[in-house]
Amino acid sequence: MKPEATTPLAPWRPRAPPRPRPRLREDIVARPDISDSPDDWWRSAVIYQIYPRSFADADGDGVGDLAGITSRLEALADLGVDAIWVSPFYRSPQKDAGYDVADFCDVDPVFGTLDDADALIARTHELGMRIVVDIVPNHSSDQHAWFQAALAAPPHSAARARYIFRDGRGDSGELPPNTWQSVFGGPAWTRVIEADGTPGQWYLHLFDSTQPDLDWTQEQVREDFDAILRFWLDRGVDGFRVDVAHGLVKEEGLPDYTDEQLIAASIGDTTAPSPHFGQEGVHEIWRRWRAVLERYGADRILVAEAWVEPLTRMALWARRDEMHQAFNFGYLMTPWDSGALRAVIDASLDAFSRVGAPSTWVLSNHDVVRHATRLGLADVPPLGHGVGRDTPGLPETEHGVRRGRAATLLMLGLPGGAYLYQGEELGLPEALDIPAQARQDPAWFRTGGERYGRDGCRVPIPWEAQAPGFGFSPTGASWLPQPDAWGRFARDAQRGVPGSTLEMYRSALALRADLALGTGDFAWVDAPPGVIAFDNGATRIVTNMTGEPVTLQDPLLAGEVLLASTPLEGSFEPDSTVWIRRA
Ligand code: GLC
Repeated sequence: MKPEATTPLAPWRPRAPPRPRPRLREDIVARPDISDSPDDWWRSAVIYQIYPRSFADADGDGVGDLAGITSRLEALADLGVDAIWVSPFYRSPQKDAGYDVADFCDVDPVFGTLDDADALIARTHELGMRIVVDIVPNHSSDQHAWFQAALAAPPHSAARARYIFRDGRGDSGELPPNTWQSVFGGPAWTRVIEADGTPGQWYLHLFDSTQPDLDWTQEQVREDFDAILRFWLDRGVDGFRVDVAHGLVKEEGLPDYTDEQLIAASIGDTTAPSPHFGQEGVHEIWRRWRAVLERYGADRILVAEAWVEPLTRMALWARRDEMHQAFNFGYLMTPWDSGALRAVIDASLDAFSRVGAPSTWVLSNHDVVRHATRLGLADVPPLGHGVGRDTPGLPETEHGVRRGRAATLLMLGLPGGAYLYQGEELGLPEALDIPAQARQDPAWFRTGGERYGRDGCRVPIPWEAQAPGFGFSPTGASWLPQPDAWGRFARDAQRGVPGSTLEMYRSALALRADLALGTGDFAWVDAPPGVIAFDNGATRIVTNMTGEPVTLQDPLLAGEVLLASTPLEGSFEPDSTVWIRRA
């Protein structure tokens, strides 16, 4: 049963033609700087994303927590990652799984306390890893004291100025101030009831109605966030993953969408100019943040979640005086196609090197379909739409996992930084059978079930095959149901088992460090159609995407096999990647 739509969706219309792109600033450089300075750790780091609700639950309530993370950190040191990025654990009513923050400087009781955060930071460092935390500056929760004060204050007051309140259109202000759409579906405006009980102003929320957008033209907002950065830097974090780093600044006057922009917003097209995403004004905010971080040392980092295309535009977020990195979503959204992959790798290396930044590589996160499922689909589902059991063309689990492993080894062979998402090292596929009544993602509710949303990649991960809740929680409770078949993916069922996905990841990360692949020189190698081959220093990485076996006598494969995503037995099977020490 699908829930009733709470808000209408914008009508679907065909994709708009491409438009001219913004020009790069003049101060670009020719290639990324490579240095041995420990401050530059992030240039080649493998950073592991922890989604706290679903990593490990110490107190048994079925929702993961900080104490759970701390208790399981050794598994990540054992995996061989350089750093962790922890998704939001701040005070929050959890309407968008913590990306609706009610207090940026406190821990939500569901996740623990500030002492637990300190213990997590300390233990991460003790184990030789760094810790990056999430920060959500585009919006707060509607339960934040700032927004509650704004609601209690009259229209046009200073308290309202912190958010984007506007009078409505129509005879009695009954229509939203403009045509903007929420990323989760439906209008991006909600009308409030004023203190005298009458319907009043509207506030902007680019996401859920419980996530009002802050007004970044206000100096007060900027100062508040400087203080929030310092609060966490003082506690010892190594950096921030910046949520919606392409939002924050809105086009002056909040103009209606053009027809093209309306189409783009309704289909999640991130290539189009938008009045609320990718505005030039965001960059001065990142320069200001960079200055705040630098006072704590050159090793503190900012990584941008900026859903903008093409990559030359995304690279603007990673200029020298702004953020250090940006998630390479162009790479993530590329289907399993050799030509498309070659093109996006070229475009990534080129775009980021122009601003002196390393490229990052990422295949999965908490907003997209897990890559062990996604890469088996002919079409990549639009951001946030998700998949379910009735999605056409779903891969068989075995096939999806095999392709996912091949994709991972290809990715980890590329120079630059890499991001992993919890559970991918276990080969987890997307959870497809989440019953309607168990779903939590606001995108599901705001579209009346049209979009499955992101719950399928957020299911708590399995640790122990035989334990209740697969060891996620001592009570077996789980805020999203775990598929019965997930025991086979449990960490304890894979650790020490040759050929398991977990062991493949462990070997890949160890080799990546030993062979310095993160800072290596990249060169394409000629290969038959459907085969991707490149050299990274003395290591050759080859992926067979032809659908047919390739014979191992092929000179392309000459050398010592270091690692393979599928066992090599006389032939190099389709949907496989191999790492070779060149002869
Ligand atoms: C980012 C987060 C996503 C969240 C949204 C609103 O895209 O990754 O999970 O829903 O921002 O904060």
